[in-house]
Amino acid sequence: MVYKKVKLKDGRTTMLDWLKESDLPELVEVLNSVIREGKYLFMNNVITDMEEERRWYKRSSKEGMLYLVASVDGKIVGGASIHPRTDKRSHVAEFGVFIRDGYRNLGLGTTLTNTFTEVARERGFEILQLSVYATNKRAFHVYKKCGYRECGRLARDIKFLDGTYTDRILMELFCNSDVEDRV
Ligand SMILES: CC(C)(COP(=O)(O)OP(=O)(O)OC[C@H]1O[C@@H](n2cnc3c(N)ncnc32)[C@H](O)[C@@H]1OP(=O)(O)O)[C@@H](O)C(=O)NCCC(=O)NCCS
Repeated sequence: MVYKKVKLKDGRTTMLDWLKESDLPELVEVLNSVIREGKYLFMNNVITDMEEERRWYKRSSKEGMLYLVASVDGKIVGGASIHPRTDKRSHVAEFGVFIRDGYRNLGLGTTLTNTFTEVARERGFEILQLSVYATNKRAFHVYKKCGYRECGRLARDIKFLDGTYTDRILMELFCNSDVEDRV
């Protein structure tokens, strides 16, 4: 069942749908294309072990992961998710998003980011957190626009395969105004 239909800046429609186990091969292919770009994600190597991927899906679903896949013209072009933390951090979830090259700058990342803020609020999460590389100006722009704020920075935390470094910026979004008071 389609969760949401959204019009992109180029007039096409994207369908947002909850991830199913049967989507994994196509989704992993899209994720691998972003991993191969080498600039945006933590992993250096593409995913090849689909059995491990299926185990990851089952484990994460049990832990409360929520994952939306975005499709255009019947093909998966990206995904986004929130993963709840546990125990004394159960009020926190981690947000992540990726979109295949060729489907960026069409508003999809903004839509997915805002959609998960709504979902997190509905599910009672208080804080969303993420991290982004300082070199990833587009992602940083999108997160700021969607209400995240920079709350920390790990200097030179990321070393790319070409030997250059970048900082990893930590960002947070408080879902409800009543968690604004810090102790
Ligand atoms: C980051 C990402 C999710 C954003 O999604 P998207 O669909 O491309 O983003 P949108 O089209 O919703 O918005 C892009 C915005 O960034 C702006 N932008 C584009 N390039 C930019 C740049 N180099 N610097 C600053 N802003 C930039 C656009 O102008 C647009 O801003 P606006 O909406 O205020 O006009 C997507 O590009 C992506 O998946 N990139 C590769 C993987 C990745 O970086 N994942 C996130 C890891 S933290």
